Amino acid sequence: MCGIFGYCNYLVEKSRGEIIDTLVEGLERLEYRGYDSTGIAIDGDEPDSTVIIKQIGKVEALKKEISKYDLDRKVTFVSHVGIAHTRWATHGQPKQANCHPQTSDKNNEFVIVHNGIITNFRELKTLLINKGYKFESETDTECIAKLYKHIYDTNIQNGHDLDFHELTKLVLLELEGSYGLLCRSSHYPNEVIATRKGSPLLIGVKSEKKLKVDFVDVEFPDDDKPETPILQDENKISVSSNKKNPSAFITNDHHTNRDNLLPIAANEFNLRHSQSRAFLSEDGFPAPIEFFLSSDASSVIKHTKKVLFLEDDDIAHIYDGELHIHRSRREVGASMTRSIQTLEMELAQIMKGPYKHFMQKEIYEQPESTLNTMRGRIDFDSNNVLLGGLTAWLPAIRRARRLIMIACGTSYHSCLATRAIFEELSEIPVSIELASDFLDRKSPVFRDDICVFVSQSGETADTMLALNYCLERGALTVGIVNTVGSSLSRATHCGVHINAGPEIGVASTKAYTSQYIALVMFALSLSDDRVSKQKRRGEIIQGLKLIPGQIKAVLNLEPRIKELCDHQLKNQRSLLLLGRGYQFASALEGALKIKEISYMHSEGVLAGELKHGVLALVDENLPIIAFGTRDSLFPKVVSSIEQVTARKGHPIIICNEGDEVWTKKAEGSDLITLEVPQTVDCLQGLLNIIPLQLMSYWLAVNKGIDVDFPRNLAKSVTVE
Ligand code: F6R
Repeated sequence: MCGIFGYCNYLVEKSRGEIIDTLVEGLERLEYRGYDSTGIAIDGDEPDSTVIIKQIGKVEALKKEISKYDLDRKVTFVSHVGIAHTRWATHGQPKQANCHPQTSDKNNEFVIVHNGIITNFRELKTLLINKGYKFESETDTECIAKLYKHIYDTNIQNGHDLDFHELTKLVLLELEGSYGLLCRSSHYPNEVIATRKGSPLLIGVKSEKKLKVDFVDVEFPDDDKPETPILQDENKISVSSNKKNPSAFITNDHHTNRDNLLPIAANEFNLRHSQSRAFLSEDGFPAPIEFFLSSDASSVIKHTKKVLFLEDDDIAHIYDGELHIHRSRREVGASMTRSIQTLEMELAQIMKGPYKHFMQKEIYEQPESTLNTMRGRIDFDSNNVLLGGLTAWLPAIRRARRLIMIACGTSYHSCLATRAIFEELSEIPVSIELASDFLDRKSPVFRDDICVFVSQSGETADTMLALNYCLERGALTVGIVNTVGSSLSRATHCGVHINAGPEIGVASTKAYTSQYIALVMFALSLSDDRVSKQKRRGEIIQGLKLIPGQIKAVLNLEPRIKELCDHQLKNQRSLLLLGRGYQFASALEGALKIKEISYMHSEGVLAGELKHGVLALVDENLPIIAFGTRDSLFPKVVSSIEQVTARKGHPIIICNEGDEVWTKKAEGSDLITLEVPQTVDCLQGLLNIIPLQLMSYWLAVNKGIDVDFPRNLAKSVTVE
């Protein structure tokens, strides 16, 4: 789980120093994806040479390391390639040798940055060691660099001068697992390869001139290319490709013939169709152009809003201002164009603004982010909910016999929080699954199941694997996703973008409340044809209307919560959170926030389970937070809390404003209350979670923890 960033220019004059600055800045924006080591590879002083600079730690440490090098700021050639990486260790400890870029040899003939895991790297490593390659690192990525060199050298010895993308295709045939990777090579100066399978990768395109094209055609493999892995029979690697041979293309004029050609290309792989030429300006001349390659849009947005998302098995080859996309394997029915989309995200959206940390900013954004989730989708006058991404699929979903919600971590908690209201409104049985456990059990999935995948990033490996599992079994899949253009949002049949805006803090906050609302809206639209549900629907929709303002009111509790963190909760080692019914999810989510950010042990407990074991922990010292807001289970929660106070525990109660049951109990006792506004029972969790988000934040800040970068965690978990 790492961030990769690359830069390539053509006819745009840039000094090496400027390019390094661009790479470093790109890494800073990607740091949330992983931050135990960083590195860059750029042009060396000798022609066609590569210099690699890498360092353990965050980008700051890399900057210091770069300053030790004598990298002049003079203007370089018309074209230049730089690649960069920020790492979250999967194979090998964070140490210098394991930082990316990884290289094929001491001359840096092939240099790679990689996000993902190569699962057959041990076999590849053994093979390459037997061929005489010496490995410096424990990473799986080093195998890729050495494999590039091995296949390149073997072909050169056999008289075959491979094109960079053809070489890449042969390398990819050997790789199992997942990757988003960039490769630069001294054998292909000023060219860069970007390819992905299971890890996100996009290309930002920037030109001062207006470009003629807003999409790139995909080039399919020729039929006569061998697809024999070298591990089986090395002698079979004998690809000969006449670089950029125009006769290989059936047309250069895709504008006029494109529609006619596409079906032919899809079915007959011996035909190549391709746009395969430079980005031309409107005046017909090659455009001065810059390409920004990245794991995600936040690092590209400053430079350009025009981006192209690569698909799995795409090999993007950039040289001389041209972008070519090839497929690494044959298949029927794959999409034949990649359109260049315009991102709507503003850079300001991903900056911290007046806040000290992204997490704090994101907590405070919730009045607005929850409103954005509902914006244009709920008509509060007529109590109508319209989710455009689901409308066409609602009849099929209503016919389902069961619905499975699948997610990880906080996203899973949003499913737990909304399951009851989903079942109540839709009358469809709902099961909820942690993606990893669902896969471990190889749970049965039927063609008529509806599988709902909830994910902030849309890239979480466990969730993506579960999605593929359900797709293979023919289920209808729905995505509830924050990140537009993410793998999950593209692979599901239909879905809802939660529109919370980019979430950078590792601890998920605003995505949780928006996922919660999106799932409630989903249940509301499923039940809009049921007469018996209209009263309840109306009550919930009117409740939703007030939520953004009520969240704002809860945020006013911050000084009170900070004070609790400074005193009662200071230096505590453990914390219990009690909740029941709708509030069990709040207890689990609150405990997760506290654990991951403040490193304090905390546990969410179903209040009804207290007497079955957990009560043994309760004494006058253990801090306990209980969710005592009003709903049908209120008397039972009161009784659980009385069990706690009877054992000399003095809990902090999250209760509704002015609730006399609690205010009376608090009088003259150690019981502390945090009062939140009251809303409809199934929405109360949206308000109750806010004090816990703030509490985890202040517990962490008090301990001097870098809140946005908690140890051992990364924002987007793209490994199993
Ligand atoms: C906790 C947190 C994680 C994520 C989980 C799933 O604060 O952020 O538990 O919720 O890794 O991530 P997504 O939602 O991106 O699939």
